[in-house]
Amino acid sequence: MYIFIILLLIIVIGFFVLSRDNRVDREIKSVEISGLKKGGKIVQISDLHYLSSRLTDYGESYNEKIGVVDAKPVKNVDKILDSLILEVIEIKPDVLVISGDITFNGERVSHEEVSSKLNILKDKGIQVLVIPGNHDIDSQRSNSYFGDEIETVENIDSNDFSNIYSSFGMGENKRIVSRDNHSLSYLYKLSSNVNLLLLDTNSGKNINEVSNGTLKWIERILKYTSSRNEIVISVSHQNILIHNKMFASGYRIKNASSIVELYKKYNVRLNLSGHMHLQHISQYNGVYDISIGSIGLYPHIYAVVDIDDVNTIEYFTEKLSISKWMEKYGYKDDTLVNFDNFSREKFRENVLMQSSKVLSGEKTIGKFKKEDIEKMMEFMVDSSVSYFSGEIYKNPQLRKDNPTLKMWLEHFSDEFQVKYLESIYTDDVLRNHNEITIKQ
Ligand SMILES: [Fe+2]
Repeated sequence: MYIFIILLLIIVIGFFVLSRDNRVDREIKSVEISGLKKGGKIVQISDLHYLSSRLTDYGESYNEKIGVVDAKPVKNVDKILDSLILEVIEIKPDVLVISGDITFNGERVSHEEVSSKLNILKDKGIQVLVIPGNHDIDSQRSNSYFGDEIETVENIDSNDFSNIYSSFGMGENKRIVSRDNHSLSYLYKLSSNVNLLLLDTNSGKNINEVSNGTLKWIERILKYTSSRNEIVISVSHQNILIHNKMFASGYRIKNASSIVELYKKYNVRLNLSGHMHLQHISQYNGVYDISIGSIGLYPHIYAVVDIDDVNTIEYFTEKLSISKWMEKYGYKDDTLVNFDNFSREKFRENVLMQSSKVLSGEKTIGKFKKEDIEKMMEFMVDSSVSYFSGEIYKNPQLRKDNPTLKMWLEHFSDEFQVKYLESIYTDDVLRNHNEITIKQ
């Protein structure tokens, strides 16, 4: 009798072990793509927030809701995308990764326009891979802006997203070796030793969260890739580590610690994220999360990630040049000739608008000289622009002991904007957040 029970147990356990292995085999297509090289080159952008020019006349309602309040030159976003496409063709990476918030607020027209522009890269043999951001699917704020009217326009759901971007990671592709059943996440085989794990946390029920099903899928594919000594670089929209203590909730994926644990276990060293519009490198237990600045915001950063055949990852950023694109196509536009200055000015005006709200109250009347107020305003501008570019380290004036920072902290410490200013000046802000080399 006992022997019978033991035999039965062995059969049952054996069945579960085998069926789990089979599941991995079923999920991960064994791709024997011939002639796969080693290493690879990735360009990453995030948070383009593209608004189609067919949805606005850039009149009153646009200016009031976007033009004046947004630090990004949204009106020029089509030129930003065109310039990016030109630079990506010159760099000729294996893939361009877009880590979400492709559109302003998920408008169908904006999605379709971006997708159609991306076809240029497809025609040049450069694969584009996308995942959605929190603005891209089922948005309740998809609007048009004409005259003084704001009207709801058609948004898209996750099926539409898959259809619109079917050539860009969401449809059939022999290099997509596994897809998650619980989200739009997938695994892309970049080369013989490198895989990209594109993690979706913005469709279905689990927004800014990875479901248990997806976590199990991640573990199965990481087991598979590590058994073959291949590396995985992951990509997510929201962050897997904190980049600024004031902005953790809503920015870091809710159950990010489970992801980081898995990455630590299977030696996934790098996650490329976005969402914060901030260029910042965080590290925990050997796992790096690099939040990239928004391509739509000054200084219009994109990242280049180079992986060699011994799994060394080199990460650095570049700044987009609109004038290069204008020169190439003979495009004339006075605003865009000095696009860098124009776009920085847009960012500056936005910060000044916020600062002046703090500095125009009763607290300042008769207490500060005019030049002190101006100094404080400009300090806030320089701090914000340099912080979002990951470049505080470059400006020796931007330090904790700067007397203008002390003035802000002494008199306005209870204001949100000043708490934010204080949060910038942590010890790690003095590092270069635009470059890193990670050895496996
Ligand atoms: Fe976002």
